Amino acid sequence: MNKFCFVIHPLSLEDVARYEPGAKGKGDAIVRKIMEWMPPWNVAHVTGVRAPDGREIEGWFVSAPLLPEQMMEFPREEVYGRILKAIQIGVDLGAQVAGLGAFTAVVGDGGVTINERSPIPVTTGNSLTIAAGVQSFFRGAREMEIDPASAAAVVVGATGSIGSACVHLIAPRVKHVVMVARNETRLRKFHGEHAPLLPCETSFTTNISDAVRRAQLVLTATSSTQDIIEPEDLQTGAVVCELSLPHDVSRRVALERPDVLVTEGGNMVVPGTPRFERVRERGNDFDLNLPPRTALACMSETMVLALEGRFEPYTLGRGIDLAKVVEIEALAARDGFTLADMRAFDAAITPEKIAATRNAAAKRRREVVA
Ligand SMILES: NC(=O)c1ccc[n+]([C@@H]2O[C@H](COP(=O)([O-])OP(=O)(O)OC[C@H]3O[C@@H](n4cnc5c(N)ncnc54)[C@H](OP(=O)(O)O)[C@@H]3O)[C@@H](O)[C@H]2O)c1
Repeated sequence: MNKFCFVIHPLSLEDVARYEPGAKGKGDAIVRKIMEWMPPWNVAHVTGVRAPDGREIEGWFVSAPLLPEQMMEFPREEVYGRILKAIQIGVDLGAQVAGLGAFTAVVGDGGVTINERSPIPVTTGNSLTIAAGVQSFFRGAREMEIDPASAAAVVVGATGSIGSACVHLIAPRVKHVVMVARNETRLRKFHGEHAPLLPCETSFTTNISDAVRRAQLVLTATSSTQDIIEPEDLQTGAVVCELSLPHDVSRRVALERPDVLVTEGGNMVVPGTPRFERVRERGNDFDLNLPPRTALACMSETMVLALEGRFEPYTLGRGIDLAKVVEIEALAARDGFTLADMRAFDAAITPEKIAATRNAAAKRRREVVA
């Protein structure tokens, strides 16, 4: 049976308590300090991932236990060292390919150096995240009855690994794409090189509020460690497809903007009878904070590579090969992976909730006209 490992890390202090229940109730400063010296460990044993034709794989979620801001602030070599130690745990268990979760794929050069130093091939999983994200983005538009062809879309994190590919995949179906990032020099260069290749109107800005105010459709894929999408900026009835981990969209949006559809774009249903069993507490499931049988798209890419016996550094760095996005989407579909139902702010988005969101948008539009 082919084997994989996937490097995870806590995205917040709440996550630390889910990974390690013993951390509950301890002060934030103590938890952060403990994490500074906490070694990588084997968190969960993944079984039951089975393609429709019976091919099955086994894997492990291994943790490089640092928070996103620690990943970005600690000396680069130290962070690489932790990620490589986590991968080594998987290698010792027989893993043949490794995936990088969340900030382990963002830090430094997006997996390139980690792959060079790893004994097994490494992928960021971003190709399938892009495919799932674009599917989710247009599903959101459909649900909110927005015609993309006459809509403006904003991609926040447009110069990034995920965002830059999303710009190219969204552009053929919308009227206008606004590209957003922080570094103006890089953004201007990116826009200059890519705009001539895109079949729609384009613009760019480093001002997120300004961009979001101009768009009915928003896709966000940034490495921000703080909220950057705020309720007061969103258009009535807007759709926000959130790929960032940790999330970019303020929780205030859930409370203050019932007319806006926010959806996590990168979740997939895993085929077979997947189980993520805690290694330290056998018999207990590891809580990914997702519905049953659901994994992140980047995890799913790693699983697909294992199912397909494609032990290669499939997705690395910031320049994504769009042909690979198309290929991994097709391989994932063949292996039985499907886009998960819509979800945001830790809750499912039911058909009733979508109808209520559409109604709230219609009401708000009437109020603005009156
Ligand atoms: N859902 C999933 O399955 C999944 C899978 C993989 C990754 N992810 C998440 O996706 C996100 C993006 O990953 P990536 O690999 O594409 O990262 P990346 O290549 O490092 O790109 C990050 C982008 O975000 C921009 N950015 C960072 N901070 C920003 C801010 N405060 N405001 C505006 N733009 C900002 C960066 O540009 P500047 O530096 O110029 O600002 C860059 O364009 C991460 O949160 C990652 O954890 C999710």
